[in-house]
Amino acid sequence: MSEPLIQIRGLHKSYFMGDKRIDVLRGVDLDVAPGEMLSLIGASGVGKSTFLHILGTLDAPSAGQVRIAGEDVFSREPAEIADFRNRTIGFVFQSHYLLPEFTALQNAAMPALVQRLPRAEAEARARAMLEAVGLGERLDHKPGELSGGEQQRVALARALVLHPRLLLADEPTGNLDPATGEGIHQLLFEMNRRLGITALVVTHNEQLAARMPRCLRLSNGLLQ
Ligand SMILES: Nc1ncnc2c1ncn2[C@@H]1O[C@H](COP(=O)(O)OP(=O)(O)O)[C@@H](O)[C@H]1O
Ligand SMILES: [Mg+2]
Repeated sequence: MSEPLIQIRGLHKSYFMGDKRIDVLRGVDLDVAPGEMLSLIGASGVGKSTFLHILGTLDAPSAGQVRIAGEDVFSREPAEIADFRNRTIGFVFQSHYLLPEFTALQNAAMPALVQRLPRAEAEARARAMLEAVGLGERLDHKPGELSGGEQQRVALARALVLHPRLLLADEPTGNLDPATGEGIHQLLFEMNRRLGITALVVTHNEQLAARMPRCLRLSNGLLQ
């Protein structure tokens, strides 16, 4: 097997509410090879988002090690972690978080502009990615001028505009009707195949989850 893209060992996460401790993750181990596509399911409140946020370096573990692309990410300084995240990881959430005043093209180009790519290159990449998600005819539409499924496609194009190695999606179809959600899942498969991107998708939909090549279940703080 090639070197894992993700290697997690003994991951613990606890939250403190006053003097009460909630142990959400209790020693998670996981290896993911480059190019794998996985689903993550589990009951509401079990810790799926917590796990995804730590894997995405948006939150820090209480204990344990997270290696991504060979990097022990949490041993780095916060500014280095943020830069690593911007270059390596794309996110899609249940809500699209698009900026309402900007067009699809401008929204999708945003991470590239943050990374200080020249505007022309950022917009060329955004255009290519919007075409890849089937929105080549909607470049100048603002989010309010797009359907829910189209908004989520723009969010996916934005997540992929810097060609991250890892795509993390947290219930990306949770706000969509079943047929539109199915379309987003198909698109995730297509992006996984075409770009070779490694993808982890949290979903409530057990049918969609079961169609992924590998399905993880989180319960009692552990992955099964
Ligand atoms: N910032 C926080 N502070 C305290 N408790 C939290 C925080 N975030 C999440 N939790 C708790 O951790 C548990 C897991 O939450 P979450 O990861 O959002 O679950 P899921 O995504 O599986 O629905 C829940 O019991 C939740 O209340
Ligand atoms: Mg969640």
